[in-house]
Amino acid sequence: MANPFTDGADYALHRPDYPRELGGLLAELPARRATALDVGCGTGQLTVQLSRHFDRVLGVDASAGQIDAATPAPGATYRVGTAEDLPVDDAGMDLITVAQAAHWLDLPAFYREVDRVAAPGAALALVSYGMCRLDAEADPGIDELYQEFYWGEFHRFWAPARVHVENGLADLPFPYEEVEIVCPPIVRKHRLAHFLGYVGTWSAAKKARESGHGGELADFARRLAARWGDPEQARTVVWPVTVRAGRVG
Ligand SMILES: C[S@@+](CC[C@H](N)C(=O)[O-])C[C@H]1O[C@@H](n2cnc3c(N)ncnc32)[C@H](O)[C@@H]1O
Repeated sequence: MANPFTDGADYALHRPDYPRELGGLLAELPARRATALDVGCGTGQLTVQLSRHFDRVLGVDASAGQIDAATPAPGATYRVGTAEDLPVDDAGMDLITVAQAAHWLDLPAFYREVDRVAAPGAALALVSYGMCRLDAEADPGIDELYQEFYWGEFHRFWAPARVHVENGLADLPFPYEEVEIVCPPIVRKHRLAHFLGYVGTWSAAKKARESGHGGELADFARRLAARWGDPEQARTVVWPVTVRAGRVG
């Protein structure tokens, strides 16, 4: 499947970044905090957080569109490259992360690269945020509308690997001794246009548009708008975050 993440500016605007606590939790894992590598970094959603805890962070992504729109941060650099052939020297990375991207990778090839680039005492963390709840506490009806759309007919546009996001990466092979990390959820307040912008960044949305089914998105947008009320009203969006982490070597 062609990489659906070509519009970095739109991705940067509409995708959430991670709870501030996550960078600190991940920084506890390796023996040293000199270098971190964020693979499938997108526009730097996790890279920026890591830059607060490591001397140097490299974000690598297969999409030049993502890298071109990546958020600058002190100590952070970005490069186009793939997880399966990392543009990185041997044995130099203290922490390697993959956020919301592990399900897109050729994992055996990636893990071979992890073993190659990991410094002594290094750690690996796969991070994912699952299905969000839309204002579920304040207004269960609007969340129901959203869940019905996500899990209904529209679900056919997701790639089969999406199941790993939906089940918190539970079934992904992870050939390292695991360390438990409990991360708080991502909580954001979004107006209608922003929430619809987030839905528009989904790979499934791109597939629907490209296969001539963009009308299903437009229909959902109409129904959501009717239920939302004042489009400037901010509603609470909550994404659960899962981490699979372990020490390498
Ligand atoms: C859903 S985005 C996640 C971006 C960001 N890490 C985040 O947390 O929002 C998945 C990213 O993985 C990248 N990607 C997909 N396959 C890749 C591969 N084989 N090697 C490197 N990056 C890849 C895509 O270009 C995309 O930017």
